[in-house]
Amino acid sequence: MPSGKRGRFPVGTAVLEAARTLGVYVESVCGGRGICGRCQVEVQEGRFAKHGITSSNDHISEFGPKEQRYAEKRDLKEGRRLSCSATILGDLVVDVPQDVQINAQVVRKDADTRIIERNPAVRMCYVEVEEPDMHKPLGDLDRLKIALENEWGVRDLEVDTYLLANVQRILRKGEWGVTAAIHYDEETARPTMIGLWPGLKNEAYGIACDIGSTTIAMHLSSLLSVRTIASAGTSNPQIRFGEDLMSRVSYVMMNPDGREGMTLAVREAINRLIDKVCAEGGVAREDILDAVFVGNPIMHHLFLGIDPTELGGAPFALAVSGAVHLKSSEIGLPMNPGTRVYMLPCIAGHVGADAAAATLAEGPHRQDEMMLLVDVGTNAEIVLGNRQRTVAASSPTGPAFEGAEISGGQRAAPGAIERVRIDPVTLEPRFRVIGTEQWSDEPGFNEAVQASGITGICGSAIIEVIAEMYLSGIISEDGVVDGSLVAKSPRVRATGRTFSYLLHEGSPAITITQNDVRAIQLAKAALYAGIKLLMDKLGIDHVDQIRFAGAFGSFIDPKYAMVLGLIPDCDLDKVQAVGNAAGTGARMALLNRNYRREIEDTVTRIEKIETALEPKFQEHFVYAMAMPNKIDPFPKLSKAVTLPPRKNVSEDGVAGDATPRRRSREDRATRRNRE
Ligand code: FES
Repeated sequence: MPSGKRGRFPVGTAVLEAARTLGVYVESVCGGRGICGRCQVEVQEGRFAKHGITSSNDHISEFGPKEQRYAEKRDLKEGRRLSCSATILGDLVVDVPQDVQINAQVVRKDADTRIIERNPAVRMCYVEVEEPDMHKPLGDLDRLKIALENEWGVRDLEVDTYLLANVQRILRKGEWGVTAAIHYDEETARPTMIGLWPGLKNEAYGIACDIGSTTIAMHLSSLLSVRTIASAGTSNPQIRFGEDLMSRVSYVMMNPDGREGMTLAVREAINRLIDKVCAEGGVAREDILDAVFVGNPIMHHLFLGIDPTELGGAPFALAVSGAVHLKSSEIGLPMNPGTRVYMLPCIAGHVGADAAAATLAEGPHRQDEMMLLVDVGTNAEIVLGNRQRTVAASSPTGPAFEGAEISGGQRAAPGAIERVRIDPVTLEPRFRVIGTEQWSDEPGFNEAVQASGITGICGSAIIEVIAEMYLSGIISEDGVVDGSLVAKSPRVRATGRTFSYLLHEGSPAITITQNDVRAIQLAKAALYAGIKLLMDKLGIDHVDQIRFAGAFGSFIDPKYAMVLGLIPDCDLDKVQAVGNAAGTGARMALLNRNYRREIEDTVTRIEKIETALEPKFQEHFVYAMAMPNKIDPFPKLSKAVTLPPRKNVSEDGVAGDATPRRRSREDRATRRNRE
């Protein structure tokens, strides 16, 4: 357990051997010598009706001398056994614990806590090598290879060149006992020795990194225990070359050393992050032996030092779409001289390795229900599908969701309004500010907010305020601020030829203008139109589940996202924010090489759609400008939220008659004909 694999073995078989035979990965660095402690297991006692067996500690051999020695020298928790030493005497249910911890490291609680079955591409193998003999002229390295083959079954071993000059010194220093780091990623490739240490080296780490256009997030994990040791993030310094992706491509096109500058900037930031996670986790940089990176196509190319110009226009050709394998030293990230880098494949010219990683993490391709996976950024990456078929696209949503282009918009930081409610009768708002617990109408709010002030409105609140403005009738379904409400509330004000809504009277005053509403409508219509194209492609009219990936998705309330028509109708409890799914996918690929094969295979089967070239995009876009949508019904949303009656407000803010919301087929047909 937890893999649930089972089998029959002769009495006396070591538990570790049984696990190996079943294909269950149990770590072992010392090769069963009882010194590394990595192979710990636990027996579950009791009657297991499901398996039809009774498992008991009497069915495993007694605590042997190796275990005793290990328990005396180190800490072996009550009930834990060394599977290399304990043997099977009868029916057993064996647990492979996830928390085999050898050195007392601080463990991050806030990293995704999902259990990832281990099978890393880099393994640590301790061997004892035969000493040199004048009568046997085999070289030291050759005898090491023989030991690795005999003890670990490593055949056809390649050796990193830098080790050739060091192998004799290391063997002698370890008195012929050494630990080799073996990189074995693809079944079709030869295993390679990428590191060698004297004696038992009982530590090996890896990093998983998501290079976003705005932020870069990194996790440091132990390759031997799967634990996340440290996590850190930083903003992407390429922002100084251009806020969004296209402006960065333009920068490369306009400046002869633009590509080089941006490559250097992102690598420097990643190097600093590596130092940071190492310091936080108390890990030496040289002990990082494997690294997985993901990013959207432009980030992917710039990180690898590839000119992204081709991605700036049709046919959006990637220089390389498949997975990339290289050494970290080749891309300016010095760690161990043998550290390997793996980059997940890109799905298409607009849908990158980050979307592939998010797909791997959420697994639409592993289930029957139809899942929509959306990563909202300046370019939304959308994946839709199930076990049968998966499609992907990206939609140019622009930076409005991140607070850019919005008059009071700002990044999520203390002082930014993050939640908004509007009373539908008085039109008075109440809101919450990042860094403050109270709502603005609660006692103690003014004092609490004093330190940060109220500085602007962040992406999640922009969604809420516009959805609330719609629900309270301040804007029509077409997004026009209703000027007639000037008479009803001092918060609705004329601003030139249009009207706006005053959310907070202060310094600065935070106002939602007609232009702000338009900017959000354009962004959400682009996203929805992209989703609709994918739904058309699959011939479906609804989705079963929606997953929001990315930082933005973590903060938006699914209800408001649906009221606004960012996403199609769906059971609200089936809409989930999944945080940095790309980062989770990168971690999965780091800790289990099988996931690398899974996503490489899945990506080849994902059908790609280029939204810009699809004739129906414009039509979907126009309908999607309305809230939630001009023609698509939202029956599930309507059950959870009372949508306001239709109100016709002309472009200059003059209200017509309110009509009850009805979505009859005739109604829709007439509308379609008219349009
Ligand atoms: S394999 Fe090292 S202690 Fe069991």
